[in-house]
Amino acid sequence: MKILYNESAIAAEVKKLGSKIAADYADYKDNDSALLVIGVLKGAFVFMADLVREIDTPCEIAFMTARSYGSEMVSSGTVEIAESPDIDITGRDVIVVEDILDTGRTLNRICAVLRLKNPRSLKTCVFLDKKVARAEAFDADYVCFSIEDEFVVGYGLDYDEKYRNLPYLAVVT
Ligand code: IMP
Ligand code: MG
Repeated sequence: MKILYNESAIAAEVKKLGSKIAADYADYKDNDSALLVIGVLKGAFVFMADLVREIDTPCEIAFMTARSYGSEMVSSGTVEIAESPDIDITGRDVIVVEDILDTGRTLNRICAVLRLKNPRSLKTCVFLDKKVARAEAFDADYVCFSIEDEFVVGYGLDYDEKYRNLPYLAVVT
């Protein structure tokens, strides 16, 4: 295992991204509504927790669950969306937060499902972007780090459900 980004490198980038999001949604400071941030479980739980604390504008939080990998290091190609958010997203400004954008299938599926519910706007924010691994076209609106096509763990990301609790991001060697 080789460390790719340590805790302080991650914290610095998450802080920058949070400030950028807060600036983009600064209108919320002057009214009663709030930005709706939806985390994709399980992988996004650590990133989501750190990110929302760096977004200095009113936010509501929700989660949904998606699975594509099973216990393999390659994407299974099918995406199961096990839960959708229990709150109404119609007319809301929504940001979906995901751990990593790889083939693009998971976020494409999630955004298709959410768009049917007519949010006012829908953006995506990913901790990691593996640009070369795309099977379906997809661009995230907010990206913390762009990485090579290597399998990474830690900071919420797993290999066979392990290593999610590592405070840094590491490449499996
Ligand atoms: P996509 O649907 O292929 O874009 O894959 C997204 C999902 O695959 C992520 O939410 C992760 O759960 C998983 N994934 C993709 N690459 C990695 C990796 O390098 N480490 C751990 N999980 C990964
Ligand atoms: Mg996973």
